[in-house]
Amino acid sequence: MPTLLHLDSSADRLTSRSRAVTAAFASVFRRASPENTVVHRDLHADPLPHLPDASLHWAARLRGTGTQPDPVAEELQQRLVAELLDADVLLIGVPLYNYSLPSSLKAWLDHIHVPGLTAPSVISDAPLAGRPAVLVTSRGGNYDKGTVNEGRDHATPVLELILGEEMRMRVTLVTVGLTLASSVPALAGSTDRGEREYGHALRRARALAAQLGSGMTTP
Ligand SMILES: Cc1cc2nc3c(=O)[nH]c(=O)nc-3n(C[C@H](O)[C@H](O)[C@H](O)COP(=O)(O)O)c2cc1C
Repeated sequence: MPTLLHLDSSADRLTSRSRAVTAAFASVFRRASPENTVVHRDLHADPLPHLPDASLHWAARLRGTGTQPDPVAEELQQRLVAELLDADVLLIGVPLYNYSLPSSLKAWLDHIHVPGLTAPSVISDAPLAGRPAVLVTSRGGNYDKGTVNEGRDHATPVLELILGEEMRMRVTLVTVGLTLASSVPALAGSTDRGEREYGHALRRARALAAQLGSGMTTP
């Protein structure tokens, strides 16, 4: 039964563009086949705790002697890891906050990046290798080459590094830029472009969802 794990992390429940694009993706994925299912986790509405114990970064067999993580925290981590391992496709809404990830999403990442469970180590290979991960990134400003913001998006690279390089998932980006063009005077000249980028992101998300939801693994 093809399963999509759909994560949102925007703190904006009314006008969020990442939420709108992930919702469009999830809707098409669900309808692409009667067997498809979607598991939705709203990391903002239902936040996870910070990782409470550094030993939880490692699979149990790789932890140092004497470490004793709280069983309740370990059980939560096991549930999050199982949810990820059970997913055929991962979809994440990634708003850019202070040039970085929302803390709600970082807490999820800290729980699920576990050498020996989700990432390769001496006791395991890469169980998620080749699985698609679609990142819908939304950011207020302009991050074009040559602008003052060039290279200042520190959210996308860390996700590409952990999900792509460490966990070896196949990462695809869908980017919505200039989302503040209609509200920040300095960006007023880019309103039309912002709307065009949003429309393009919605179309791209729907196309990817149709492919991945019908079992085609190459976006
Ligand atoms: C706490 C916070 C911090 C933000 N920091 C940045 C930033 O560093 N750079 C930027 O371009 N936009 C920033 N923004 C604007 C958001 O990236 C923008 O509103 C984006 O559309 C948020 O995603 P969403 O529409 O899915 O909620 C910030 C917004 C918030 C709420």
